[in-house]
Amino acid sequence: MKDFGTYTPRSRFERWTDARLPVIRFAHDTAVSYPVPRNLNYFWTFGGILTLMLASQIATGIFLAMHYVPNTALAFESVERIMRDVNYGWLIRYLHANGASMFFMAVYIHIFRGLYYGSYKAPREIIWVLGITNLLIMMAAAFLGYVLPWGQMSFWGATVITNLFSAIPIVGDSIVSYLWGGYSVGNPTLNRFFSLHYLLPFMLVGTVTLHIWALHHVGQNNPTGVEITDFKTDTVPFTPYATVKDIFAIVSFMVFFSYWTFLMPNYLGHADNYIPANPAVTPAHIVPEWYFLPFYAILRAIPNKLGGVIALGAAILLVAFLPWLDTSKVRSMRYRPIGRSLLWIFAAAFIGLGYLGSMPAEGGYVIAARILTALYFGYFVALPVAGLLERPLALPLSISESVFAGRSIKDCTSLPLDGSVEEMIKPKVSQTAG
Ligand code: HEM
Repeated sequence: MKDFGTYTPRSRFERWTDARLPVIRFAHDTAVSYPVPRNLNYFWTFGGILTLMLASQIATGIFLAMHYVPNTALAFESVERIMRDVNYGWLIRYLHANGASMFFMAVYIHIFRGLYYGSYKAPREIIWVLGITNLLIMMAAAFLGYVLPWGQMSFWGATVITNLFSAIPIVGDSIVSYLWGGYSVGNPTLNRFFSLHYLLPFMLVGTVTLHIWALHHVGQNNPTGVEITDFKTDTVPFTPYATVKDIFAIVSFMVFFSYWTFLMPNYLGHADNYIPANPAVTPAHIVPEWYFLPFYAILRAIPNKLGGVIALGAAILLVAFLPWLDTSKVRSMRYRPIGRSLLWIFAAAFIGLGYLGSMPAEGGYVIAARILTALYFGYFVALPVAGLLERPLALPLSISESVFAGRSIKDCTSLPLDGSVEEMIKPKVSQTAG
């Protein structure tokens, strides 16, 4: 993207730093003068929400780690001590546990935005692949973190998921022993899971930085999917426009987050995880956290263990290949009648699989999960075909044209950017006539 920097150092200190390490210039170019399409809707605030959730998870996690003991004999009790004896320990833990759920809610909305508006298409393929990398790291971190309280679900969840690797021919069993650090999930497992659970969020900071760097290099997509044609008319500066919108969205999201944390802090968890881990007693139903349920349903829908593991991996990895699978030249699903219907079927299948993942793997549930799994994977076949066959609706010529009700901004009174919207969209003709 071309350089839009408007920074001019004002004080002696600013001039001094600017000549040596231009961090203030960098912050200004990134968060103040950076041009964003003027038609972004609230879906575009979820990246900011996600960044904040990552910071929140790291901050609360660091405080939890000060009191948590990664030893099978003490882990469960150390968590109970955090809840009862550590000052505001209950708050830190509930923020961290519910924060993971909020993080996933936000990431699924963020991904849906990308799918709907075709944000994965050229030139944003690397942003997309880095996004899937973020998702995989988040999933790994969430899985490892759930094992730490050493409750029944922690232990049995870890056992079921690590055992999946045993489906790999020849080397599978050895991989599982390496993961466990022994012949069953035990103390070495808990130790390494804690170590990795602490490490992964910092790796995520690295991949998120690359993700945002790539985004700032090519610029943001927008609801029309039409590229910026004229920076003067199609964009607005990041501050105040995007900043104010992001702050409003973040505060609203915090209200939502607070609802779960303060009013129903255990709703999204599982009651069995308040029972200390017992290798001798298997829970009646082993269920993962809600955000893994669609993938868990896909895993169980396939009758063969190795096939299930391959389907589970493919369900995530295929999404990373969408930039190359989608053959349509049009980005936004607003203008793609067939693509849009397919996407809604895909999204409904994903939600349906989430429900089925929480149900026992028997009878009608398994049959339904197979049908929805077929619909889920069907998207990756149907979308490339639809891209070749469908007739997209007429696209707007530019972003500003789509915003200013079919009129070019040049035909409207060109008020300064802080002018009221009504004034801005008033056509010049009516002004001269008046
Ligand atoms: C830790 C997780 C993530 C963080 C913190 C994050 C952060 C961000 C931020 C700050 C933005 C710019 C604001 C916005 O457009 O909303 C962004 C844009 C974007 N993200 Fe993410 N993201 C994450 C995960 C993902 C995932 C899982 C995907 C999809 C696979 C993804 C795909 C994208 C795309 C395509 C854009 C560009 C959107 C556009 O210009 O239309 N991100 N992300």
